[in-house]
Amino acid sequence: MTDTNREMLRTTFGQDAELYDQCRPSYPPPLFTDLATLAGLGPHARVLEIGCGTGQATLPLAQLGCTVVAMDLSPDMVAIARRNLAQFPNVTVVVSAFEDWQPSDGTFDAVLSATAFHWLDPEVRMIKAADMLRPGGSLGIVSTHHIAGGTNAFFADAQRCYERFDPTTPPGMRLTTDDETPEEAAEFDRSARFGPAEFRRYEWQQTYTAPEYLNLLMTYSGNRAMAPQARAGLFACITHLIDDIYGGAITKQYRTRLAIAHKTP
Ligand SMILES: C[S@@+](CC[C@H](N)C(=O)[O-])C[C@H]1O[C@@H](n2cnc3c(N)ncnc32)[C@H](O)[C@@H]1O
Repeated sequence: MTDTNREMLRTTFGQDAELYDQCRPSYPPPLFTDLATLAGLGPHARVLEIGCGTGQATLPLAQLGCTVVAMDLSPDMVAIARRNLAQFPNVTVVVSAFEDWQPSDGTFDAVLSATAFHWLDPEVRMIKAADMLRPGGSLGIVSTHHIAGGTNAFFADAQRCYERFDPTTPPGMRLTTDDETPEEAAEFDRSARFGPAEFRRYEWQQTYTAPEYLNLLMTYSGNRAMAPQARAGLFACITHLIDDIYGGAITKQYRTRLAIAHKTP
């Protein structure tokens, strides 16, 4: 992805922040149990969350009792995150691009980014995250992957809808359960600021009717950026598949991955 594309696409989430809040799932609870253990998080920990969206990962961090500074570049996402976290005095939500943010008070015990780290400037993100941490502090990167499983045949058929309506779609793409070497490991290593990364994986499913699935698709930057006519064709094609071929509902298989490493002294 070019810098210009990344900077344009990363602003699409806030275009309909309420839809994002309604449709994007949170994360499996064991992820936060593992994070608390691996990063030593508890009521006295200070955590910085980058790209908090409407608070999908912020809420479980708040429930751990951590003092959280959560940041997002979209004022609309932040407004909803503040609403969702209003009962937690231990959480502050700020509007800023991470790259531009100047913290005023000290370092953090952990930095977390959930489905957002890949939107940050690759020249800045690792080094600045390390600068925000105390020695020994943890950087956790949560990523979300759509893998084979659930209503597999539907996703193969839907790929043909993408090939037809979105010419940038590579032909013949299929879901797999492969667990390729996570790219975060190499990025942690290259930065020379962190010890070895550890990984945890969580697999889970969610079932969607056609309207629910189209709403979910409208929270993805690629679909939001499509020309409206092409997107209408794509969505009609997908609705036809779900309603007329797959009995009105389909199941998506998710893999959530946590990558975590400690800042070297
Ligand atoms: C895919 S959403 C993830 C939101 C939430 N963390 C979640 O798990 O659903 C990516 C979020 O990162 C934010 N974002 C993208 N680039 C950013 C940056 N450079 N600094 C701060 N936030 C950023 C977007 O506004 C968006 O809310």
